[in-house]
Amino acid sequence: MIIFNTIEELQNHLNSIRNQKKSIGFVPTMGALHKGHISLVDKAKADCDVVVCSIFVNPTQFNDLSDLDKYPRTLEADYQLLEKANCDIVFAPEVTEMYTETELELKRQKIEDKSWTQGHPVDFGDLEKVMEGAHRPGHFNGVAQVVSKLFRIVEPNKAYFGQKDFQQLAIIRSMTKQLQMPIEIIACDIMREPNGLAMSSRNERLTKQERELAGIISKTLFTIKEQYKSKSVSELKALAEEQIRTVPAISMEYIEISDSNSLQPISDFKQSKSAVVCIAVKLGAVRLIDNVVLF
Ligand code: PAJ
Repeated sequence: MIIFNTIEELQNHLNSIRNQKKSIGFVPTMGALHKGHISLVDKAKADCDVVVCSIFVNPTQFNDLSDLDKYPRTLEADYQLLEKANCDIVFAPEVTEMYTETELELKRQKIEDKSWTQGHPVDFGDLEKVMEGAHRPGHFNGVAQVVSKLFRIVEPNKAYFGQKDFQQLAIIRSMTKQLQMPIEIIACDIMREPNGLAMSSRNERLTKQERELAGIISKTLFTIKEQYKSKSVSELKALAEEQIRTVPAISMEYIEISDSNSLQPISDFKQSKSAVVCIAVKLGAVRLIDNVVLF
């Protein structure tokens, strides 16, 4: 496994790989890797000749600066996991390698002025007005900013994203299409802990007891999946709220039943060909998201 910290060295190496007509699979991450991330690397390994994984805690996608500070950083352990997964290349740049000071200053101003969409080349329309987009202003702007940079740097044939971040996947698909990038976006299943909790780097910040309590999040989503054929959307949302309330340590930020493509909320299942239930909660200071595709 080769580790690169600079764009130039990475690109020199990737150019020689492309000259050998080898396909490149790309897995972008923010590190603090777990089995969910590794499942993406495994899938990329199965599909492509060479796999690149990036580890970069992207400052421009955090609208809450203390969340950025507290984001777990476990670079050495990450390298070991990737080595074990037979990942070929790691790209782990410093912030200064990815952003100019002007770009960072602009983001700081946007946080102050809340002028998120200004100067952004991609229009996500209603896709970013709901759920994570509505609750984390500017978040997808920053995700699109860094992923478009990474796509231009790596120029992969295929890029792998987890369904864990369902809305992010839709945003990336839309961005790739709008920027006419010839990259195939591959969606990967959600990896879960034995109690159903979706694996997440943020779980690192939970106590053992909190991790156990957090099992209720996916249990609630799977209850909705079991019952959606016999209940209305509003009945299901009320049921979810009731179930989450049984664990007082958890507070609900939103529960939404949405069309899987447009991500707009639905009030009647007949309206959609496919639907997904998405949830965001807070457990102590830690914000967790999860989702289950209903049909
Ligand atoms: P990060 O949260 O590190 O996630 C990297 C990738 O791993 C994402 O595609 C995410 O959906 C996937 N992933 C996370 N938990 C998963 C799980 N339990 N099962 C399957 N896949 C899982 O998402 C980001 O980083 C960033 O926004 C990024 C795209 C790297 C841009 O900075």
